Parts: sequence; structure tokens; C-alpha cells
Amino acid sequence: YLAMDPAEQSDYPRLVERLSQLDKQIDNPANYIYYLSTPPLLYGVVPQHLKHVGLNSEEGGALRRIVIEKPFGYDLASALELNEIYRSAFQEHQLYRIDHFLGKETVQDIMALRFANGIFEPLWNRNYIDRVEITAVENMGIESRGGFYDQTGALRDMVQNHLAQLVALTAMEPPVQFNADLFRNEVVKVYQSFRPMSDDEVRRRVIRGQYTEGEWRGELHRAYREEDKVAGDSRTETFVAMKLYIDNWRWQGVPFYIRTGKMMPTKVTEIVVHFKPTPHKMFTSLDGGTVPNQLIIRIQPDEGISLKFAAKVPGSGFEVKKVSMNFTYDQLGGLASGDAYSRLLEDCMLGDSTLFTRSDAVEMSWRFFDPILRLWQEDDFPLYGYPAGTWGPKQSDLIIERDHSWTNPCRNLTNSELYCEL
Ligand code: BG6
Repeated sequence: YLAMDPAEQSDYPRLVERLSQLDKQIDNPANYIYYLSTPPLLYGVVPQHLKHVGLNSEEGGALRRIVIEKPFGYDLASALELNEIYRSAFQEHQLYRIDHFLGKETVQDIMALRFANGIFEPLWNRNYIDRVEITAVENMGIESRGGFYDQTGALRDMVQNHLAQLVALTAMEPPVQFNADLFRNEVVKVYQSFRPMSDDEVRRRVIRGQYTEGEWRGELHRAYREEDKVAGDSRTETFVAMKLYIDNWRWQGVPFYIRTGKMMPTKVTEIVVHFKPTPHKMFTSLDGGTVPNQLIIRIQPDEGISLKFAAKVPGSGFEVKKVSMNFTYDQLGGLASGDAYSRLLEDCMLGDSTLFTRSDAVEMSWRFFDPILRLWQEDDFPLYGYPAGTWGPKQSDLIIERDHSWTNPCRNLTNSELYCEL
């Protein structure tokens, strides 16, 4: 262990010396992985200091890799600047921009579901899919991270990276092979197809919120502005809901609704693919209207997949009701959940950057989200309050059109009607 100030260039020669001592002890050919789990302010400084003492260089066959935590950049300009800094010190193959959502088994399973099965792909497009919802909500506040979070907010913390990745995996074209270049090319293409929004569209399609005091599990939870290290007049969002479109052949006209929030009623991440209803309604439904099919991909908890379809209610007459066909990961003998980081760090050791974000993807994602952040800086852009323990501001319902509403998931995927932990 070596204590040093990573912002201080004069500390780095000590690091070089310590590393070379260790190399001798363990017979290491100067292979190093740097993992920057630091305040984002240091992201631009550390690579330059490493370069200054030669710790970036792979000359002579040493392997040098650097893992950088999200959010990569504060906005488009800073992300571009960071990319420049990293490119001046490292080569792209040495860079591992980590997004732990990609390390989750169930996120990787989206690819297996889509590309290892023949039955979904023919339906996976604008002809059969009505809309897609992606929800990643949490039932906790910001805990002790006020200093970081108040400077960051939900859009930078969750949407620009985690939710964008989930949209990419749901919407991408099948890569020709599952390797770092070909997979990440497809991610970039999805980001390139995000339809830019005018200011007016941002006002209509993007809702931001901040939790206020509210009752949660019988206790009063304080408002975001009362949390430690949060400004008393903070306008940082703890909730974002957004409707976006992907302008390409497959998805033209299909809305993607994405949503994230802190202090919501439960912790759940899931993707709901809503298929179009039958063109003609022959049967009456106990659930009212037709029974549109849904495919629910539950990322966490209670990881699994559920397909909702209509079945005849037994007995006389001919009524139908919604039923489910369920797969849960438990059936495979348990999930090493919570291990997203070990999977990714192991990939980094093996030199496989497939599940890490490439520089062009960061840039394309920021190009889409940056104008929203800029508009938010205007004082008159609404920031809606929502009591802690609720599903966010009512206004977020208004961005969903045609009388639909958000699917507010329960913790339990398969028995959601029977058991709903709130
Ligand atoms: C992190 C965010 O990247 O993801 C946190 O910084 C958030 O604010 C967390 O709580 C959610 O991750 P998970 O794996 O618990 O869903």
C-alpha cells in the first residue's frame, strides 16, 4: 500500500519506485491496471501524471490498462476534453470506461434472448412493437453521497450511461460477432440514431423531479434538500423520465420511455416491451380492452423474463384474461448477483473490452443528452417535487401518450399480482 496524493505530480515517482519493488518481489513484467474510482475532478489529472512518469507506456511488452468510472465527463465539452486527454496518454485498447450495468448477468442476457433465439427477432421492430419502457428505480436516497450527487444528478448518474446502455442493448442490430469492435459498433449506431430534441420537445418529453419529504415504510424520510452536503436550494434532479425516439429503419415511430429515480417505492430495474394489440378484437377480456402481449425483462431483483399473453378463462362463455409464462434465473441454479464489477474487472485483466464503453459511444451519448442539461440550467425549466416513497412527479405520466401509463413494477416478477412489496 502506498499513500499518495493522486493530484500531485511530484508524488508519482514514489509510485514508480514502489511498483518496481513489487514487480521484483512477485516477478511481474510491469503489467499494471489503474482503477480510477476517484472524484471525477481527478479523471483528467491522473492520466497526465501517469504519462509524465512513463506509467502509461506499453513499450517493451508491459500491459498498462486504465479503468475509469462513470460519469465520463460532466457534459459533452468535458467528455470530449477527457477523451483528448486519455488519447494523448493511452491508446484506445488500454482504456476501460466501466459501466457496471454491462457486468450484470441479466443485462448480458438481453443479447442471448434476442440473438440466441429465432422467435423474437422477427417481431422485434416497429411492425409489432408498440412501445418500450425502461425503468431503473431505487428505494433509497443518496445516503452519504450528497457531495457527489448534488453536483451530478440523475441524468449524469444513471441516464447518460446505464439507461442509455439498456436502450442500446434493446434496440441494437445483431452484431456479426460478439467481440469488442463489432458489438460496440452497434451500440454507437443506436446512439447515433437517437432523434435530437428541440427545446420545445425537451419541455414536452423530459420530466425532472426531486424528492420532497415523504412517508416511506411508516417513517418520515427527509427531503433531498435536507440531505447532508446538499444545498438547501438545490435544483439537482433525483428523478428523470423521458420519451425518446430512435430514427432508424427498425424503430421509426416507436417511443422508448425511460425513467430513473431515487426514493421510489421499490428497487427494480426492468424493460417492458409492449407489443401491438391484435388488429381485430374477437373476445372480451376480464382485464378490459384487448390483452396486449408484453415481454418483461427483469434485470433486478428477482431476475428473469416474463411473457404476458391472453388465455381463455375456463368455463362457459369466451372471455380471456392475461396470464404469464415465466423464467427466473433461480431455475439455473442461482445468480452470482452483485458481482457485476468482478466480471468486468476480470475482463479487463484478460484484455477484453467488449463490455466497456468506447470513446465514440461516450461522445454520441453526450451529444444527445447535453442539450437537455443545457436547457435545464434555465431557471424556468420545471423541477417537480415528489414525496419520497412515491412513483415520481405526476407530470411524468403526461409524457406517455394514448392513455397508457407507466408499468410500476413490484419486486417480485412472477407473482406480481399476489405480492407487491412497497
Ligand atoms: C451507480 C449510481 O452507478 O448505480 C448510483 O452512481 C446507483 O447512484 C447505482 O445507486 C445503481 O446500481 P445498482 O447496480 O444498485 O442498480
